[in-house]
Amino acid sequence: MINKIALALDLSTKEEIEILINQLNPQPQIFKIGFQAIYSLGLFECLRLVNNLAPHSDIFLDLKLHDIPNTVSQAVQSLSKVSELYKIKYLTIHALGGSKMLSESSKVSEGKINLIAVTVLTSHSEEDIQHDLGLPLDKLSMKLAENAHQAGIEWLVSSAHECKNLKNKFSDMKIITPGIRPEVNSANNGDQSRVMTPKQALEDGADIMVIGRPIYKSDNPQKVWSQVLENH
Ligand code: C5P
Repeated sequence: MINKIALALDLSTKEEIEILINQLNPQPQIFKIGFQAIYSLGLFECLRLVNNLAPHSDIFLDLKLHDIPNTVSQAVQSLSKVSELYKIKYLTIHALGGSKMLSESSKVSEGKINLIAVTVLTSHSEEDIQHDLGLPLDKLSMKLAENAHQAGIEWLVSSAHECKNLKNKFSDMKIITPGIRPEVNSANNGDQSRVMTPKQALEDGADIMVIGRPIYKSDNPQKVWSQVLENH
């Protein structure tokens, strides 16, 4: 089950999603649904759409929950209740929300949904974190991972650049890495700062890689998708 690829469906219309999913062969094992699709189409419309178009794929809900512990754990509980029906296997929550928020959410998710703690967004560079928080990025990422681990969360989102260190310290945790680019070349990075190729990310221990724009913005999504599959 390890070493999968999640395709980010950061699209706004039903037609765009249908065209993309219908042209990919083999279909991705995981589709990631986030703000753009949900705020355009509605959560349950997105879930039904992807379930219908890709009945064998799992759903990764990238909601990046971050609020007081009661609000977040109630949301996690509500989603856990419908997770089996809609094949929601993964759900993101911000590790910056704090240990209490993480542990209360972890308790209610148990056995139903894989809660994933987001450490430091891959769009943040080392300089951004130093400037905004006055902290070294690797220390922040490690501390957030430790909080998630202590809260009983088994999954992390981090940049592939932190993967090796995180795996060395928390060998029982699984890591999801966005910022994946078939070719690392700053012209392709968009707003991502810490990018890696699929091959490098896997060598560094990524369990699931997330890729979006290099595929859905390509003139030939199937070609890029095949290349990603061949090279990982
Ligand atoms: O288009 P691209 O391949 O950069 O997509 C990356 C996806 O992963 C986006 O949907 C983004 O919201 C998400 N993500 C991320 N960094 C994180 C967590 C999620 O880029 N730390």
